[in-house]
Amino acid sequence: MLRTICYISDSRLNNSLIAFDSLTLKAKKNNATNNITGLLVYKNNNFLQVLEGKHETVDAVFNKISLDNRHHNIFKIIDTTIEQRFFGEYNFGFTVVSDKNALKNLTEYLNWLRIADNMIANEISTMVENFISR
Ligand SMILES: Cc1cc2nc3c(=O)[nH]c(=O)nc-3n(C[C@H](O)[C@H](O)[C@H](O)COP(=O)(O)O)c2cc1C
Repeated sequence: MLRTICYISDSRLNNSLIAFDSLTLKAKKNNATNNITGLLVYKNNNFLQVLEGKHETVDAVFNKISLDNRHHNIFKIIDTTIEQRFFGEYNFGFTVVSDKNALKNLTEYLNWLRIADNMIANEISTMVENFISR
C-alpha cells in the first residue's frame, strides 16, 4: 500500500546554503535507498515537503523528519493512501525545489498532473501552487 504525507514547516537554517545543501544531499541519498519519491520545496524560509512511498517507510521517514531541529512548526496537511505515485517519474523521483527555474518547471509539471484529474493529485497541486505563489 502506498501513502503520501505532505507538510509545511518553518526552517531554522537561516538561509544557509551549506546547511541546505547538506540536508538535501542526505535526503536525496536516503530517499533513493528507501524508494521515497516526492518534493522538497524551500521558499521564504519555509519548507513544503511531499513524501510518497510504502506506508511504513513514509511513516518512519516522517517521524525522523519531525524530530529534526533544523525546522519547527511542522504542520501536516495531507496524510492519505494513494494508488500510484505522482512524483515517481519527475526528476528521478525526488526533487528539491529552491530556485526560480526549478519553481517554473514544477509549476509546469503540476499543470500536467492536473490533466489526470485525480482528487489527491489536484489537492497536492493546489497546496504546492499556493505555497510557491505566496
Ligand atoms: C525539512 C527537512 C526535510 C527532510 N527530508 C528528508 C527526506 O526526505 N528523507 C530523509 O531521509 N531525510 C530527510 N530529512 C533528514 C531527516 O530529518 C534525518 O536527519 C535523516 O533522515 C537522518 O538520516 P540517517 O538516519 O540516515 O542518519 C529532512 C530534514 C528536514 C529538516
